[in-house]
Amino acid sequence: MSAKFDRYMISSQEIRRKFLLFFSEKEHHIFPSAPMVIKDDPTLMFTNAGMNQFKDLILGNAEIQHARVADTQKCLRVSGKHNDLEEVGHDTYHHTMFEMLGNWSFGDYFKKEAIAWAWELLTDVYGLDKDRLFVTVFEGDEGDDLGMDREAFREWSNIVPEDRILMGNKKDNFWEMGDQGPCGPSSEIHIDLRSDEERRAQSGTELVNQDHPLVVEIWNLVFMEYNRLADGSLVHLPKKHVDTGMGFERLCMALQGVKSNYDTDVFKPIIDKIGALTDHTYGENEKADIAMRVVADHVRAIAFSIVDGQLPGNNGAGYVIRRILRRASRYGFTFLDQKEPFIYKLIEVLDELMGYFFEGLRQQKDLIEKVIQEEEASFLRTLEQGLKHLDQYLSESKSNELAGDKVFELYDTYGFPTDLTELILRECGMEMNRAEYEQELNRQKERSRAAAEVTTDDWVVLTHDEKEEFVGYDYLETDVRVTRYRKVKTKKAELFQIAFNLTPFYPEGGGQVGDRGYIQCDDDKIEILDTKKENNLIVHMTTELPRYTDRTYKAVVDSSVRRRTENNHSATHLLHKALREVLGDHVEQRGSLVHPDHLRFDFSHFQKMSDEEIKRVEDWVNLRVRQNIQLEEHRSVPMSTAKDMGTMMLFGEKYGDTVRVIQFGESLELCGGTHVPSTGQIGHFKIVSESAIAAGIRRIEAITADKADAYFREQEGLLQQVKVLLKSQDPLKSIAQLRDENHKMQRQIESLLAEKAGGLKDELLKDAIAIDGGRLIVAKVDLDPGSIKNLAFELKAENDDLVVVIATVHNGKPNLNLLVCEPLVKSKDWNAGKIIRDLAQEIKGGGGGQPFFASAGGKEAGGIDRALEKAKELFQG
Ligand code: SER
Repeated sequence: MSAKFDRYMISSQEIRRKFLLFFSEKEHHIFPSAPMVIKDDPTLMFTNAGMNQFKDLILGNAEIQHARVADTQKCLRVSGKHNDLEEVGHDTYHHTMFEMLGNWSFGDYFKKEAIAWAWELLTDVYGLDKDRLFVTVFEGDEGDDLGMDREAFREWSNIVPEDRILMGNKKDNFWEMGDQGPCGPSSEIHIDLRSDEERRAQSGTELVNQDHPLVVEIWNLVFMEYNRLADGSLVHLPKKHVDTGMGFERLCMALQGVKSNYDTDVFKPIIDKIGALTDHTYGENEKADIAMRVVADHVRAIAFSIVDGQLPGNNGAGYVIRRILRRASRYGFTFLDQKEPFIYKLIEVLDELMGYFFEGLRQQKDLIEKVIQEEEASFLRTLEQGLKHLDQYLSESKSNELAGDKVFELYDTYGFPTDLTELILRECGMEMNRAEYEQELNRQKERSRAAAEVTTDDWVVLTHDEKEEFVGYDYLETDVRVTRYRKVKTKKAELFQIAFNLTPFYPEGGGQVGDRGYIQCDDDKIEILDTKKENNLIVHMTTELPRYTDRTYKAVVDSSVRRRTENNHSATHLLHKALREVLGDHVEQRGSLVHPDHLRFDFSHFQKMSDEEIKRVEDWVNLRVRQNIQLEEHRSVPMSTAKDMGTMMLFGEKYGDTVRVIQFGESLELCGGTHVPSTGQIGHFKIVSESAIAAGIRRIEAITADKADAYFREQEGLLQQVKVLLKSQDPLKSIAQLRDENHKMQRQIESLLAEKAGGLKDELLKDAIAIDGGRLIVAKVDLDPGSIKNLAFELKAENDDLVVVIATVHNGKPNLNLLVCEPLVKSKDWNAGKIIRDLAQEIKGGGGGQPFFASAGGKEAGGIDRALEKAKELFQG
């Protein structure tokens, strides 16, 4: 136990260790946590339960390799069916990110063992007081035609007195992953952490599932038996499974004898650090306490999302992360008086707490800090902008209510949080029109819902086929049979998804786009528009269904598109290696797109790459292209062997026990994509852009093969045109000459203009008209405004009794200038700045300046004469 936390009876590290040890002794295989950000499941953005990574096994889409598994899984409940975001901070036991300790049986043990082991661990191993525990059992549901879970009841009644077994309804005791998917009745274990006195006064049975902060659920044992279909009906899963989930932070609260998750050693050091950074003491002020809890919770969610490869962004998962960060920043801003970034400073302590178990956190600490700091800074700028707009609205507002569309505009256009608007309004004795605001919000929701709506029918299964083997590493053409299909409707189109018994089509993944092509049987030829993977199943997109579902089709991949994509994929591997060679080992892949026409590679690096570095990277790759290095594809390598080989792995990816290693000489990567047989096929590699996409993240865009050829041809063509235009075979020399000549001519023009102005000055003085107290010059000249100003200032320096009005038309636009020598400004109260505005009306324009000199531009050149006449009348009196 770390010395820091020894005031806790048992540290959180020890709690986690004991859980995994207990189940490993019961022959469970210990799994690593899957990434919290999900990349290959369109129905789920983030891991919201420990079972997500095992969904394929539960549905029967993947082969069961370990029938018993246990792990601690990082979960995030911020979207979809399981969303706790708004509660976080306001109570002491909800979180966005939390760890879920879980044990699984895939078609192995069921209720009896799951129940007995859960009890043994909690009471014997952890030593929790049996009198404080209650259990719940599913009471049944008429709508779903399900009876009470008698088996669970029987098992529990062997262990606990019956008055501690409570019946629960579908909401509390029937667990579903989402609207569709695996589900089943559950049995929960709740703990009552109130004082003995409180427990005597009211029985804990009355408080189970009543949102009491000290009577909380700690463990959910789900007995997965069903799959919920799109039409809401239930069908039996091929096998029965156990899926349990125990809230790690709540368990720590129970075992460490504290009354809130935030008082455990998982959170307390973060809370203390927030206190030190913001000069607040936890427990003194309710609002500040909420803010401290929000920040302590959210910083974990954000940091671990970044570890798993998800940066804050403008859409999808990235936008959810950005909103979490903004929520934390906004609570810090309002309730902890933080006007500068501060959340990023908590990563240090988070690393001390969790970096030993979750390695990625430690390795990516610098990047996480930079990204968070940059996001905070940009949000604080947004807040500042929003405050300015709000000020303006407030000054314009005639009543003490701010219109809903304005509040919505602040939120939607400027990202300004509505609760903050409301708070500020309240401080000014105003309020917002909530009904109007909600109307705007609903309209927007409706717009985006309509745009994004996808309805997916259930699969029509023709043949049960557990594994749709991908044969596209070796074949681009093969015979296939349709095993299942379904219809998918979006706002724009109606498509079909088809699965085969085996397929040569590569499904989009690892950055590589999905294959296209066609399938054919006699006269029935169907285009495959795209290929994707969903829960281990390879699905092919088409606009129509095959006519002969019981016959064999020839499946043909578009080989030209595939080859060009492979060029870019293999080049991406070489680029990755080259970047590490040239820039250093801190370079980590943060995103990648492999397309037939180009490749995009995002990586961690803190400065812009110099031209020299870009050239070195290109040279490194192109040398390997010319060496025509053979592909060495190592299929089914044990993970440990891959590690020993020095293979590059990515954070945020889920790897199995055995992996595929792609090797081109020094470049070794874990990869499921398709590649060139030897690097010579890449032809040439050319970087076309290098830019920043976020703090500490750079993006390279590059091309290869035919696209690189086309690029160089275009450059060559451009050069040819330049030569023709310059009529020279040495364009550099010609351009240098042109530039020198240009400079020379520029200087000549300047001196000619000065001369012209000098001559003009004498002429103007000759034509000056006497007015009361001085002389008036009114003239229309052919000079640029800059020279007119010089001229006016020269006249002013040499005379003290002049009023000069000079007009010109420059680039088709009228321009007026007015000089009034200082003595006349004083004696006559003639203010050039004001008078010019009056004159400018004649040219439909405006202007201004100082009392002694002003100028104006306008739209109507035809008005110049009128303006000059007006000036004469004015000054001649
Ligand atoms: N899937 C269940 C839950 O998330 C048990 O792991 O609560």
